[in-house]
Formats: sequence, structure tokens, C-alpha cells
Amino acid sequence: MGEPESQATIRFLLNGQVQVVRDVDPTRTVLEHLRGDLRRTGSKEGCAEGDCGSCTVLVGEPDGETVSWRAVNSCIQFLPMLHGKALVTVEGLAKDGGLHPVQQAMVDQHGSQCGFCTPGIVMSLYAKAVSAKGTNAPSAEVLAGNLCRCTGYGPILEVARAVEAEAAPVVDLSAVGDGTLLDLSYDDPVQGVTRRWLAPRSLDQLAAAFVAHPDATIIAGATDVGLWVTKLRRPLKTLIDIGQVAELKRIEPRESGVWIGAGVRYVDAMATLGGLYPELGAMMRRLGSTQVRNSGTLGGNIANGSPIGDMPPALIAAGATLVLNQGGERRQIPLEAFFLDYGQQDRRPGEFVEAVIVPTPAPELVFKVFKLSKRFDQDISAVCGAFALRMDGGVVTSARIAFGGMAGTPRRASGCEAALIGQPWSEATIEAAMAALDGDYAPLSDMRASAAYRSLAARNMLRKVFIETSSPDLVTRVEPESAHG
Ligand SMILES: Cc1cc2nc3c(=O)[nH]c(=O)nc-3n(C[C@H](O)[C@H](O)[C@H](O)COP(=O)(O)OP(=O)(O)OC[C@H]3O[C@@H](n4cnc5c(N)ncnc54)[C@H](O)[C@@H]3O)c2cc1C
Ligand code: FES
Ligand code: FES
Repeated sequence: MGEPESQATIRFLLNGQVQVVRDVDPTRTVLEHLRGDLRRTGSKEGCAEGDCGSCTVLVGEPDGETVSWRAVNSCIQFLPMLHGKALVTVEGLAKDGGLHPVQQAMVDQHGSQCGFCTPGIVMSLYAKAVSAKGTNAPSAEVLAGNLCRCTGYGPILEVARAVEAEAAPVVDLSAVGDGTLLDLSYDDPVQGVTRRWLAPRSLDQLAAAFVAHPDATIIAGATDVGLWVTKLRRPLKTLIDIGQVAELKRIEPRESGVWIGAGVRYVDAMATLGGLYPELGAMMRRLGSTQVRNSGTLGGNIANGSPIGDMPPALIAAGATLVLNQGGERRQIPLEAFFLDYGQQDRRPGEFVEAVIVPTPAPELVFKVFKLSKRFDQDISAVCGAFALRMDGGVVTSARIAFGGMAGTPRRASGCEAALIGQPWSEATIEAAMAALDGDYAPLSDMRASAAYRSLAARNMLRKVFIETSSPDLVTRVEPESAHG
């Protein structure tokens, strides 16, 4: 028996040529389509879980008058997510028999040995060149999601230095008319189909679709759900793609803060959140890789309820509010109240995350975020701690402290907070608050860290807040090379 089929008609540009795909399993990945269906085998499959970057492609989509380009991992993007967009693969770079400058630099600088990672590295550097006009991310940061076993990164970073940021996009989005999304029929379920893909175009449509199909799986950036398919082979029946709901992509100032739609990708939220909370912005640059940040959303990071998601601790410490929507009915709850227990969130049938409202920090707020992981980039936290403290005359007047990786959910450290509030900001208070942390959490041991290590790390994060505030000239953080390019 073959894969279940859907009537979806997906249209996109592939290296400048319009592609129409019909009758495809909607959970077929972009990489599977490229390699298996089109025999375009330039993009490689190394891990099929977003880690190695060998499948990196460039996706362009209309952004006002221009096209915004993002490097993404094609192994965990579903084919319908490409609809109405432009895709550039490594095959699209060489022109008129000549290599693209990025490719030529890889040859000249000996940046490739076995070559398996090479197409992905070329695409990441190409993406930097194309979108670099808007970003000045260091090359090492751009390449953090591309693993190479052979060359070491020295020659590859030489390539990055050698490449001029002058490459122009090779595709012209005007080939799909005015670049707006095409009106296709992939929200019409077909009789007898066991897997279907719904693509609401508005918030109202999404609300209605999810109430009608409360068992559906919402797809935002697919940096989690992609792996459920490629690694877990989970039989997803109905999928609702929220990527075309413009209302979910809004970032808007509100009276007391900023409204960030659940569909806002990390890459698009970083400037705003980093502007409000610089330490949160710095932490986000370590969340996943460029490719993951170019796809993953804030809403997905919250809705998945992971105890080790990186955004919830910082957003809880900041006092963020979650906006939930069920059939058009909205309710707002403090973000921490959303996480009930491991794998259990306060979400009703057919209810989705619409936005998170992040308050503007008071000028005197001390706000610190520490992400502890084995690797600096592209690694999941063992412990992530966030601290929001206010003081008056050397006395702590308020404390919001939250940790990930210390319990079955991201959770506030209420005992620790109580041990701080009303106390002088002193060594003795910190010692007492560190001891109180032990009563707040009973962490697990797993492959990332032992329980004892996690407890000690959490305590030491609090001590670090104290050291950094009381001795601001002391160097407490080692900047990795990636911060400098
Ligand atoms: C290589 C790699 C590295 C990663 N590194 C990190 C890391 O360092 N830190 C970290 O925190 N995470 C990391 N992740 C995990 C992942 O990127 C995040 O959890 C991401 O935020 C998920 O967002 P998404 O848009 O991709 O969600 P999706 O995969 O689309 O969805 C995730 C879950 O949320 C649900 N969902 C999504 N949006 C909504 C909504 N609006 N309402 C209700 N439900 C919704 C989905 O149904 C699904 O259950 C990594 C993932 C990969 C593949
Ligand atoms: S194959 Fe490894 S990131 Fe896609
Ligand atoms: S050249 Fe072999 S993995 Fe990079």
C-alpha cells in the first residue's frame, strides 16, 4: 500500500522555474522531494533532524516590496510549506558553466574533502551573501548549523572571509505573478485520504479549522514536528499549517509591552526581544542554528511544552502573558500558568497559542539569562536560568526567577524568590537563596546532565547574577570565537 495522498497542489519556484506538485503526501519533506522525486541530489541528507546542515537550501518569500531569503534545513520542512515561495538549491548556483564565487572559494581555499557537507556549507554562505545586506552575523554564527567532519573549520572560515557579500539572488520571484500566495485547494480534504493538510489563510479560518479538527497537529516552523515524521515516523493524520496566517506574524507595540504573534520566527523576534532584554537577545543567538532560527517560532517553542525549551524561562522571568484562542474566543494567562505538568499544558480542545505579550522592562530591572549546554551553538540546554530582579536601596524588592531543565516544565523558583524579596542584596542572602533553590526543584538525571550537576549549575547561576551585579568590572563570560567571526 502506497503513502496516503492528498489533493494538494503545491506551486513554488525551484531555481527560477515554476514547479507544480500534485498528489503528494503532505509530510513528504522538501529534501525527500528534491532527492527522491526530482533526483536533484546536490542537497545531502546527513541526519534528517536539522542538526548537520548538509541539506541547507534557501527559501525566499515576499516581504513587502522585496523578497526575504532564509537558509533552512530542507530535511525537516514539509513540501506544502514551500507553497508560493521560491526555493534555491545548490544546483541553482553555478551559471554559464562557471562556479558561483562561494563554490569557487571552497575550491580555492580547500574547504572541502569528502564533500558531503559542502553543498550545505555553500548554501549557508550563499545565504549570508544574499541576505547579508541586512545582517552582519559573524560567519562562524552563520555556519554553526553546518557540521564538517573532514576539513576542520579553518579553511571553511577562510572561504567565508574570501566571499564578497555581493552575490545576487539567482531567482526572480516575479515568475509567480505578484508574489502573493496562490489560491490553491489544499484545504479541501479528499474522501478516503488518511492524511490531510489544511492551510488557513486567516486567524478566523485557523480558529474554525482547529475547532473542527481538535486532534490536528499544528505546524509552525516544523523544527519539532519535522522530527516526529523523519525520526519517530509518527502517523500524523491532520495537519494545520499556520505559516500563511499573517495575523500570527505580527510584532506590535502595546501599552505595556510588545505583542509577538505565535507564528513569528526567532530570526524575526530577535531584534525586538534583544532590544527589550539584551541578555535574551544574546541567548537567542545560541538557540539552535541559523537554519533553526530561520524556521522555528516562539509559539512552537512555548506550545510544545518542553521542559528544556529556551524561551519560556526568560519570558516567564520577564512576566510575559500568553494569549490563547479557541474558536475566536481569547483568554490571557501568565505564561508560567500554561505549563501544568510534563507534557501537559493548559490548552483546551481546538485552542491554539495566538501570541505572547512581553512587558517592557522597568529601567532599573536586573535581567540575566544563562543557557548551559555542552556546545556553545546548536545545542539543547541542560539548564537555562532567567532572573529578573528589582532593588531599592540595596534591598531586593521583587524577584522573578525561572528555570528550564530543572523540572518537568519550565517553572518559577518560588522558594528562591521568597528568600530574596525584602532582603539586602548580599552574600548571605544569596547563600540562603541558593539553598532555597534545592527546595524548588528535584531535577532528573539524563544524557545532558545529572541531577546533582543541574542543581549545582542552577545555584551557581544565581551566584553569578550576584557577582556580575556587585562586581560589574569582573570578566565573568568568555566570548566564543563565533561572536567575532
Ligand atoms: C537542530 C535543532 C536545534 C534546536 N535547538 C533548540 C534550542 O537550542 N533551544 C530550544 O529551545 N529549542 C531548540 N530546538 C527545538 C525547536 O526549534 C523549538 O522548539 C521551536 O521553537 C519549535 O517551533 P516550531 O515553529 O518549529 O514548531 P513546530 O515544530 O511547528 O511545532 C512544535 C509543537 O508546537 C505546536 N504548535 C506550534 N505552534 C503552535 C501554536 N501557535 N498553537 C498551538 N500549538 C502550536 C505543534 O503542534 C507542535 O506540537 C531545536 C530543534 C532542532 C531541530
Ligand atoms: S540532513 Fe542534517 S540538517 Fe538536514
Ligand atoms: S568535507 Fe567531509 S564532512 Fe565536510
